[in-house]
Amino acid sequence: MIITEDTQRPYDVDYDFSDITIKAETWMPAIQYMFKKTLDVPGHVIEVGCYKGGVALRLAKILKEEEISKRVYALDTFEGFVFDDPSGGPMKVGAYSDIEGGEYDIIQLSGKLGLDVEPWAGDCRETLKSATLRNKKYSFAWIDVDFNCLITEAFFDIEKNMHKDGIIGIDDIGRPECPGAELALHNILKEGKWEIALFDKLSLQVFLRRKR
Ligand SMILES: C[S@@+](CC[C@H](N)C(=O)[O-])C[C@H]1O[C@@H](n2cnc3c(N)ncnc32)[C@H](O)[C@@H]1O
Repeated sequence: MIITEDTQRPYDVDYDFSDITIKAETWMPAIQYMFKKTLDVPGHVIEVGCYKGGVALRLAKILKEEEISKRVYALDTFEGFVFDDPSGGPMKVGAYSDIEGGEYDIIQLSGKLGLDVEPWAGDCRETLKSATLRNKKYSFAWIDVDFNCLITEAFFDIEKNMHKDGIIGIDDIGRPECPGAELALHNILKEGKWEIALFDKLSLQVFLRRKR
């Protein structure tokens, strides 16, 4: 396990795509570092809780630059949280609902930039069980849905289709506003099948791989 320096996490990030800037909330260095380790692993990429698509588009851009043919599935309700955090965190219905064009902006931008991003609108606990996504194989997943019930269910849905050398990352571990993230990590680790490959204390991101 690698634990990086404990310093202040930046929360507002601007991602520039040609003439467009996307506001995002996810700090990329650790994601990029771990994502690049899975470039040779067969399977697609999936982000659960993509908000305006900043991370999904960034990952798709890396794939394009590396000339790797994988699709990035980008899941979100595109209307923010539809219930309050059951773990008692401050996140309430409607948080992250400021996504003007929703999935259509992502479709338009990925088309314009020649990136392969496919947004899926809806509750991830349903979209992940759709016949299409259930039948995909994945090499990398990024889960950023804050609540214990959402993270845990998404993780165990994706796990079934994750390549043995794939990596699943989870955001907000130890972030006071997202108490559910740490609970979800606990649920996952207690199954005994996954281990921490990297915990980045700067970004509060954890990356899991199957136990060898
Ligand atoms: C912390 S934000 C994601 C931030 C994003 N990864 C970024 O870097 O900009 C959490 C996202 O989870 C989405 N969300 C909330 N409940 C959801 C659900 N049941 N299914 C799918 N997405 C959901 C919200 O709409 C919001 O966009």
